[in-house]
Amino acid sequence: MIIKDKEFEIYLSKEEIAERISSLANEIENNLDGIKPTFISILNGSYIFTADLLRALDIECEVSFVKLASYKGTSSTGNVISIIGLEQSIHNKDVFIIEDIIDTGVTLANFIPDIQQRNPKSITIISLLSKPEARKVPIEANYVGFEIPNKFVVGYGLDYDGLGRNLSDLYILKEG
Ligand code: IMP
Ligand code: MG
Repeated sequence: MIIKDKEFEIYLSKEEIAERISSLANEIENNLDGIKPTFISILNGSYIFTADLLRALDIECEVSFVKLASYKGTSSTGNVISIIGLEQSIHNKDVFIIEDIIDTGVTLANFIPDIQQRNPKSITIISLLSKPEARKVPIEANYVGFEIPNKFVVGYGLDYDGLGRNLSDLYILKEG
């Protein structure tokens, strides 16, 4: 499968993804213990995962969507993330962040303190994908769908240069 100028091959089928999301939803539900989650989905990449995960959960919950804008070089630590769209108060709420993929970890490492400042009761991180070998800052999700190798993936919400988000399956960059 060619997207723009690169060749990708199938890595996870939509059936495999659906099966994993179903067991992830069970696991999350079993651990809730009466908690009513406030999900915060990080756009754009998480839109399909969020829709599928939340429909697999048979619970009462709230959901908000945020977009993160990062600016390079504005501080010595690198990126400053600004949150667009979180108008809702999360004070004293059990916040569950939904991310598509944790790569270097920089995005979440910058986002979490901003969420913490708003005094939620708890923070739980859910990520469909994780590339442990790519990590530059020590951050891990509480729930991970799949650990994948340090290679570029596209589909199921994730893009390559704006393309491929609408693909039902997940594709990985072909070697050579
Ligand atoms: P991090 O800050 O390096 O952890 O990167 C997180 C963000 O980078 C994700 O939310 C994605 O939007 C994007 N990203 C990282 N790896 C990939 C990939 O393999 N395909 C598409 N997007 C990716
Ligand atoms: Mg993303």
